[in-house]
Amino acid sequence: MCGIVGYVGGRNAVPVLLQGLKMLEYRGYDSAGVAVFNSKAGEIKVCKTKGRVENLESKLYDSPVAGKIGIGHTRWATHGVPSDENAHPHFSSSEKIAVVHNGIIENYVVIRDFLRGQGYEFVSETDTECVAQLAGYYYSKSGSFLDSVYRVLAKVDGSYALALVCADCPDKIITVKKNCPLIVGLGKGENFLASDMPAILKYTRNTFIMEDNEVAVIEKDSVKVYNKKKEEIQKEVYVVDWTIEAAEKSGYEHFMLKEIYEQPKVVSDNLNRRFKSDGTGIRLDSIKLGKEELEGINQIYIVACGTAYYAGLVGKFLLEKMARIHVNSDVASEFRYKDPLIDEKTLVIVISQSGETADTLEAMRLAKRKGSRVLAVVNVVGSTIAREANDVIYTLAGPEIAVASTKAFSAQVVAMFLLTLHISLERGRLSLEEFREIKAEMELLPSHINTILTSAPNIKHFMEKYIGSKNVFYIGRGLDYVVCREGSLKLKEIAYLHSEPYAAGELKHGPIALIEESTLVIGVATQQNLFAKTMSNIKEVKARGARVLIIAMEGNREIENYADDYIYIPKTHPVLTPLLANIPQQLFAYYMAVGLGNDVDKPRNLAKSVTVE
Ligand code: M6R
Repeated sequence: MCGIVGYVGGRNAVPVLLQGLKMLEYRGYDSAGVAVFNSKAGEIKVCKTKGRVENLESKLYDSPVAGKIGIGHTRWATHGVPSDENAHPHFSSSEKIAVVHNGIIENYVVIRDFLRGQGYEFVSETDTECVAQLAGYYYSKSGSFLDSVYRVLAKVDGSYALALVCADCPDKIITVKKNCPLIVGLGKGENFLASDMPAILKYTRNTFIMEDNEVAVIEKDSVKVYNKKKEEIQKEVYVVDWTIEAAEKSGYEHFMLKEIYEQPKVVSDNLNRRFKSDGTGIRLDSIKLGKEELEGINQIYIVACGTAYYAGLVGKFLLEKMARIHVNSDVASEFRYKDPLIDEKTLVIVISQSGETADTLEAMRLAKRKGSRVLAVVNVVGSTIAREANDVIYTLAGPEIAVASTKAFSAQVVAMFLLTLHISLERGRLSLEEFREIKAEMELLPSHINTILTSAPNIKHFMEKYIGSKNVFYIGRGLDYVVCREGSLKLKEIAYLHSEPYAAGELKHGPIALIEESTLVIGVATQQNLFAKTMSNIKEVKARGARVLIIAMEGNREIENYADDYIYIPKTHPVLTPLLANIPQQLFAYYMAVGLGNDVDKPRNLAKSVTVE
């Protein structure tokens, strides 16, 4: 999704903005731009272009702009095609005010029509331009930059993080947000704003988070924040514990590969943090989810989007199987509009890496309005979902930069394992002995992941063999089917290959008609109790000419009779296999994307954090 960065201070703003925009590239975008106040000319200069930040850089090289205050933007098109005209920043007609915007202004047509009636002409197809023009309109009446921003806010509906500069106020940026993330970074003699921490991590780790309807006036030596009533308020500053190294590639060819290789550490960090040292259970810190609270709950509802949703499905499967509690699940975009059957006896678990996904956030707010308690499983500390949920379990995966989620998924799955163990223990469905057995197996997971990672060269070899595939099917049963859904999503996202996950038993009810000579079928068969059933489905596709790559548990050598190729995961407890079986799928999707020459970390049309509907 779109990214925003802003700078006020003593340095040339352009390199700071460009560096910030580069760090936001991972969010996904199709054009980029900056607006910088040029003190020599006494005016704001805007430079923007369709395409990558490098295009913007070369445009700035050809026609340099300089100044000590500026705003920058990466746009992910919503209203109007990716083009130079639609790229941000947008100017008011007078060129007094320039604006960058994340989100969607829902009533932009009404505002545009009103301004057209006042003689204003629009040069882009965007919703954002109406903000710039409206601010310019009010500024022409009042001559006050801050008042104009407040008047704009009274008129616009929708979601936004906005940063505005005014040619007559060359010392400040005004920024405001509603339902879109925005942070302010504090430096010495310089201050920053950004939609996401990596953009300013190189310069400062002291930040505060803007809340909805707050307005910040950012100058070189001061930042003032006002509430909706224009009263000044104090913000709590916190120090981010991410390092710039964590947000860099550290020698890996892609962030995705780096993040795949970080998984052993992410898993062990979570386990170290969560297992009680005396081996009697799970540490949930201040989260109250004991026997008494669980008695007040008659169902759990898991809500998330994309990969996070699949982590949730692992949780659903395990909670039902082990804790014997009824668990419903939905993708957030469906949940929020279906008047879900939830109440104060429902525990709603929302899962989100970014903690900013618009649908998940709204689903959570709906659940709270209906009286449910919301437990959020989130990666980004201080994100909106984390702040608004009743309780939070942080997944400790560190910054995930690649659009395709890998380590965050593994961390979410581990969180689901831990929650299941906790709830099962509290409900008396799991004995301490069984708990200790699973715990011991879980402690081996980091080393098992390392073992799987050593098979990367084989998986690369499979990529070379199967790179010509046009359709790929993933089949499995039970937990393996959930793994298939995640594997198939990953392949679509970054290799742009058509792929479908099927519950293996469903093949005969239709999808098997799609299998033809050489179709690639990836079979996931780690569940011993379902192994024979899955194998008979494998035989059926084999008999119809499919080429089959099987992921199975070590020791199940029977697969070698049916598979063209196979990957073994180390032996583990059956409930833990989703974590391990998914790793070869991540590597396979990664190598396919590399082999096809795709932009692995920034796949087309996708954004890291989907902050609009
Ligand atoms: O930040 P979130 O976990 O809420 O994001 C949810 C999905 O948008 C995300 O998992 C998406 O499916 C990823 N690109 C998958 O790799």
